[in-house]
Amino acid sequence: MSLAEQPVLVFDSGIGGLTVLREARVLIPERRFVYVADDAAFPYGDWPEQALRDHLLALMGRLLRAHDPALCVIACNTAFTVAGAALRAAYPQMPFVGTVPAIKPAAERTRSGLVSVLATPGTVQRDYTRGLIQSFAARCQVRLVGSVRLAGMAEAYMRGLPVPDLDIQAEIAACFVQHQGARTDIVVLGCTHYPFLANVFRRLAPWPVDWLDPAEAIARHARSLLPVAGQALHPHTPDSALFTRGTPDFLTRRLMNSFGLAVDDTPRPPVEVVA
Ligand code: DGL
Repeated sequence: MSLAEQPVLVFDSGIGGLTVLREARVLIPERRFVYVADDAAFPYGDWPEQALRDHLLALMGRLLRAHDPALCVIACNTAFTVAGAALRAAYPQMPFVGTVPAIKPAAERTRSGLVSVLATPGTVQRDYTRGLIQSFAARCQVRLVGSVRLAGMAEAYMRGLPVPDLDIQAEIAACFVQHQGARTDIVVLGCTHYPFLANVFRRLAPWPVDWLDPAEAIARHARSLLPVAGQALHPHTPDSALFTRGTPDFLTRRLMNSFGLAVDDTPRPPVEVVA
């Protein structure tokens, strides 16, 4: 494969990275995309840090060898905040574009000074996330809200399965803070699954807030690292999706097809998952 024909690999534990893929495709129209969902290990949200880091290092090594991408987007806050530095150290030739909670833009934009970060339990506990708050939002009051269940709810919702409003409401309620006449005006979507639920969040919110989705900024960063080509580099090969658990079920396949992704069913050795 020539350098120019190498695909962009977009990686997440599940379907959340599709929120980043859809922006990246707009800005990088000439490349082929390979989407990888590590559904064998989903959800990453409550994995112990070291086990998740080891798992990601091993899995990424296999994916990079198999797909030889030009660039790899880690479209998962939970993965990147724990293993971004280790991945860059282990695979120094590979440009990794990461995903971290959009705390800096939230701090720049808030008028009330009350910002919430809605993410997985793993992401809200990370030193990385605390570091972002100290560096960029020291003057704000930041509420960290870790949800064990929301990523799974987004997975179900996107497959057309029922997800009760009350369950979603219970997960987002803690984001809404009132303090001395001020109230939360920005909620950072710190998990790539959540933008799929943004309309439900808007409907269930006790008052309107900005729901900050970093997908476009991630796509712009990826774009800036690739040379611009005047023509499609792989015009006849469709974008594809692969699942570490193996062949996905009907609903998942239908969802992938609705995103224009051909499901890659190539038999491969199972991924060892040791949480
Ligand atoms: N989509 C992932 C993120 O951005 C997390 C989902 C999971 O718990 O695996 O954090």
